[in-house]
Amino acid sequence: MSILVTGGAGYIGSHMVHELADASERVVVLDSLSTGFDWAVANGCRLYADVSVSSVFAALARLKPGNDSTVGVGGAGQVFQCGNRVRKYHGD
Ligand SMILES: NC(=O)c1ccc[n+]([C@@H]2O[C@H](COP(=O)([O-])OP(=O)(O)OC[C@H]3O[C@@H](n4cnc5c(N)ncnc54)[C@H](O)[C@@H]3O)[C@@H](O)[C@H]2O)c1
Repeated sequence: MSILVTGGAGYIGSHMVHELADASERVVVLDSLSTGFDWAVANGCRLYADVSVSSVFAALARLKPGNDSTVGVGGAGQVFQCGNRVRKYHGD
């Protein structure tokens, strides 16, 4: 199975990605790296480090048709980040 993990460079997501990679799953990570780190992504997993429309389509294109899952743990980790960055999230 191939699995897209949004927020896969963050605290929760990177642990999930490591577990999936250890289970020999094909993992594609889409992460803005706003609070995550590229080094936290397990070796061998493809990282798309921006959330532009073209990057999202590129990440989706790497998944195998008909045998995919998406896990979403991306986003602001703390409530104050949402409150302070309302314009940013409305613009995305
Ligand atoms: N850590 C906890 O104890 C906990 C508890 C309850 C809920 N949560 C929620 O789980 C989610 C993940 O938490 P975390 O602790 O791993 O946070 P984190 O900040 O470590 O990870 C979030 C990841 O999402 C990425 N990101 C931010 N905006 C993005 C976007 N628009 N597109 C793609 N990636 C984006 C960040 O770069 C980061 O890598 C958050 O929504 C958080 O509120 C966390």
